[in-house]
Amino acid sequence: MKKVVLSGMRPSGPLHLGHWVGALSNWVRFQDEYECFFEIATWHALTSEYQNAKEIKQWISDIILDWLSVGLAPEKCVMFNQSEVKEHSELHLLLSMIIPVPWLERVPTYKDQQQQISNRDLNTYGFLGYPVLQTSDIIIYKAELVPVGEDQVSHVELAREIVRRFNNFYGYVFPEPEAYLTPIPRLLGTDGRKMSKSYGNAIYLKDSSEEIEGKILPMVTDPKRKRKTDPGEPEDCPVFDYHKAFSNREEIDWVMNGCRSAGIGCIDCKKVLIKNLNEFLNPVRERRLKFSIKPDLVYQILLEGASRARERAKITMEEVRERIGIR
Ligand code: TRP
Ligand code: SF4
Repeated sequence: MKKVVLSGMRPSGPLHLGHWVGALSNWVRFQDEYECFFEIATWHALTSEYQNAKEIKQWISDIILDWLSVGLAPEKCVMFNQSEVKEHSELHLLLSMIIPVPWLERVPTYKDQQQQISNRDLNTYGFLGYPVLQTSDIIIYKAELVPVGEDQVSHVELAREIVRRFNNFYGYVFPEPEAYLTPIPRLLGTDGRKMSKSYGNAIYLKDSSEEIEGKILPMVTDPKRKRKTDPGEPEDCPVFDYHKAFSNREEIDWVMNGCRSAGIGCIDCKKVLIKNLNEFLNPVRERRLKFSIKPDLVYQILLEGASRARERAKITMEEVRERIGIR
């Protein structure tokens, strides 16, 4: 029996290289090795965007196109929209009965997000339950592996605690899920801060080669290299993180030596990166073009995905109701 994998992303705009390096690259790999479910977390998007709810529909179209472009394939994995599989909401409700509120208040993202996101009121019942909904998403498929970015680890840890409590009360139903990270959990944005749509420092999977060049060439580097003759330290330069993710061993060695000895300039270094990013993105661009002219096919993929997900979720819910004793 193949292990089950579940992961998801909130539809909140186009995906960037940080998503690829931090999680999506594992999804693409896992679809060949495991039984994979990948969900568009529409309800999670609503927890913060409930006042912009009309925007979400477009973001769902964007995200599925991004997924198909990087090579997630409907014959290898199940891609679906969370809000089409209502069973998740029933499990969320049932779990809410057994979860102590302080467990949720202690989740680091809860207070962090409330502080960081000042233009929305996140003091809601739904937002407090965000990780409960995420737990339902994972365990309704009895997933064991959850390939995510490092920002989601605390949610998967909580899912494990919830599973233990459920199994303890009602008998074994769910395996404990485990977060799975990539070797490079974060990529900084072009200005050296966290890569984020809201900072305007992101490089998107849908960027053209002109946009890539326009973003990489002015990118911040090690501040010690003011002139080409000043030696630098790649480990202090965000460009080098991109090389680690997109360049080969030889090129990485060339950057390390050339930067530390001032043998190469930052422009030389960035040009090699631009070439490699385009080599990575060219097949992504081709697939995007292919799918973007077939919106009906994309819609069909999501319909089919929801139906396959629902089939599985229904079986788990029968078992859950039976175990709790309310069937
Ligand atoms: N909270 C995740 C994020 O913001 C999205 C998500 C929803 C998810 N449900 C999930 C991730 C289940 C992993 C497993 O990226
Ligand atoms: Fe960064 Fe490359 Fe310049 Fe070194 S040579 S500081 S790694 S851009």
